[in-house]
Amino acid sequence: MHPLLLDIPEHFETERLLLRRYRAGDGAWYAAMSQRNKTHLARYESGNPVIGIHTEEEAEVVVRGLAAAWAARSAFFLGAFRKDTGAFAAQIYIGVVNWDLRELELGYFADAAQEGRGYVTEAALAALDFAFRHLGAHRVRLECDDTNARSRRVAERCGMIQEGHIRENLKHADGSLSGTLHYGMLRREWDWPFLGPEAEEERPR
Ligand SMILES: CC(C)(COP(=O)(O)OP(=O)(O)OC[C@H]1O[C@@H](n2cnc3c(N)ncnc32)[C@H](O)[C@@H]1OP(=O)(O)O)[C@@H](O)C(=O)NCCC(=O)NCCS
Repeated sequence: MHPLLLDIPEHFETERLLLRRYRAGDGAWYAAMSQRNKTHLARYESGNPVIGIHTEEEAEVVVRGLAAAWAARSAFFLGAFRKDTGAFAAQIYIGVVNWDLRELELGYFADAAQEGRGYVTEAALAALDFAFRHLGAHRVRLECDDTNARSRRVAERCGMIQEGHIRENLKHADGSLSGTLHYGMLRREWDWPFLGPEAEEERPR
């Protein structure tokens, strides 16, 4: 099926989070979020547009771009917000690597103020469910710096399998070198009962 014909949910919930796509008007809080996360994202997300935002207008351009990518089905960016306070907890990225193969890519970052509370793992599991059930993924991959212990733990808690390790292919601003870990999960490996009997019925046999 052509990706533009997919009917997909634009928001969904987990126990503690509301995940939703970005929309026009998100620029104000996104700008504030970017200011408090620049240092936090500098080492492992140096290419993230969040780092380059200086004004609300720039943030509005970024969120409208992310909303447009969602509409075009070229990438799926989700904000994850705490249900109890409404605070932004994490951003989830699901990219399209190869639509014919249905290979997708998962990425994430936590708000620095919300790190270490399990929100990213909770959101990433919901994103995997979205990828396998709603986007029909055959495979979801994830790349992670081999010194990024927190990210590795998220991937492994989600059940992703380490498929490869490229050594010393990254150079950081401080001159240090690190490598890239490649994780993957196949459709048949996803924990389909995760969200209850409805998902179990859709499990591939
Ligand atoms: C990588 C990153 C997303 C991981 O975030 P995180 O907050 O550690 O991940 P989670 O939200 O899943 O939290 C997990 C931690 O919360 C702890 N935790 C605390 N309360 C919890 C609860 N109620 N439920 C579950 N876990 C809880 C877990 O024990 C776990 O700690 P541990 O890893 O020391 O064992 C974050 O460090 C980050 O944004 N880094 C910068 C950007 C980045 O590296 N992105 C990834 C690029 S590949």
